[in-house]
Amino acid sequence: MSQFPAYRPRRLRCGPGLRTLVRETTLDGTDLIYPLFLTHGQGIRREISAMPGQFQLSIDQLPEEMDELVSLGIPGVLLFGLPATKDAVGSEDYAAEGIIQQGVRAIKARAPEMVVITDVCMCEYTDHGHCGILREQPSHCLGKGMDGLCLDNDATLEYLARVAVSHAEAGADIVAPSDMMDGRVGAIREALDAQSYACVAILSYAAKYASGFYGPFREAADSAPQSGDRSGYQMDSHNAREALREIQLDIDEGADMIMVKPALSYLDIIRRARDTFNRPLVAYSVSGEYSMIKAAAANQWLDERRCALELLTSIKRAGADAIVTYWAKDAVRWLKEG
Ligand code: PBG
Repeated sequence: MSQFPAYRPRRLRCGPGLRTLVRETTLDGTDLIYPLFLTHGQGIRREISAMPGQFQLSIDQLPEEMDELVSLGIPGVLLFGLPATKDAVGSEDYAAEGIIQQGVRAIKARAPEMVVITDVCMCEYTDHGHCGILREQPSHCLGKGMDGLCLDNDATLEYLARVAVSHAEAGADIVAPSDMMDGRVGAIREALDAQSYACVAILSYAAKYASGFYGPFREAADSAPQSGDRSGYQMDSHNAREALREIQLDIDEGADMIMVKPALSYLDIIRRARDTFNRPLVAYSVSGEYSMIKAAAANQWLDERRCALELLTSIKRAGADAIVTYWAKDAVRWLKEG
């Protein structure tokens, strides 16, 4: 009897063609969603210093941006906005001429087939930088260390619903609430249906963790809380079973798609969500995941292309159907180069 086993895994790695043939996971540009930061003004293409290669764009830059994304075959964008003015209730968030509403219309005018997903949250629009309405004595109190104020969950729901409806009116295909208020998916669904936007889908940031990896985004979207933090409403990174409860609740309220965010430190959550729920699953590879590889690559400590593709592949392997990533355009180019 031979001293070697008949089956040798290494046989299937002997050449690039063979490796590709037996690959279990493939990374594909058609699964990638590209985030965009929109700003008022003319001719603005302002690079975000902590996210080299990512820009705040004015609306007039969108046609060219769409042409590029369409030519690369990227199917969807996720929009964030920088408002002209901020106030206590984030009024521009639901204004017909708000930055997102203008952006959605400009994108749809140039690229009607582009799937437009809008972030539904208040933190970029409120002067205090929190994701909802602050009250001194709210009925439901979330968050601490905010100058004696609390985030009023239930008062926020009405605003989030208004934001979602205004995005639908502008032509958004999918609204994506990222605020983590309890009950927001149901409130948004009800408001959309009441305005006959039954076809607008909800991608719920169902399991969104309070994370240090959002750091660069807060510069990009100018959305850092003025006081306190978001640990009263975003999830605690020590918990996994809780994510499954959050996702279940959002599905029960009508979420069409679910999101896990961030991705890289939460691959186990992506896997468990994939195994537990029969819903399209999106993972958000957040700003810090991008910036840390960019910074290391700028120092020649890491190979950006290799590490970024490895990172994105790991998210697919964990079970994500689609990935929100700042590397969307680069990844498509890299994959084409082979
Ligand atoms: C909140 C929101 C955040 C991100 C997306 N939506 C920031 C936060 O919750 O503090 C972070 C995305 C990233 O880091 O790339 N509207």
